[in-house]
Amino acid sequence: MKFHLDEKIWLIVSFGMIIGFMLFTGYQTFVLGMGPPSHMETIDPQKVDETAPFDNPGVKQIGENEYEVVMTLEIFRFNPNNIEIPAGSTVHFTMTSKDVVHGFQVAGTNLNAMVTPGHIQKISQTFNEPGEYLVVCNEYCGIGHQHMATTITVK
Ligand code: CUA
Repeated sequence: MKFHLDEKIWLIVSFGMIIGFMLFTGYQTFVLGMGPPSHMETIDPQKVDETAPFDNPGVKQIGENEYEVVMTLEIFRFNPNNIEIPAGSTVHFTMTSKDVVHGFQVAGTNLNAMVTPGHIQKISQTFNEPGEYLVVCNEYCGIGHQHMATTITVK
């Protein structure tokens, strides 16, 4: 098989671009640590209620405008339920599931996480705008999935 010179040039350019993109994404993932989380902390899903911090779910103030929410998800509820925080607060959510895969999506924010049994999911958000934020489970988890919801009230 014989290539024209311009074909060879384009082949070299396109292979060069593929290698370049691979090196670039590899650099982002491994050097800059921007890859998807693959080594989350783990937990025994059978013993969530006995394992700190999930033995004491709730809202804790940890700084002037900073709160930690330790939350468990199970069919078909969020615990704690109906969270209230002052406007301007940064909230660090630490979550795990006690049974199946659930979702944690907060309307009007970028918060959207998958909460899987056996893993600890951590995600943070600053709530500046007062209002009532609807929290829904966006992973199908069974017969009551569409009723799995709660609110975060920002005052
Ligand atoms: Cu939990 Cu859907």
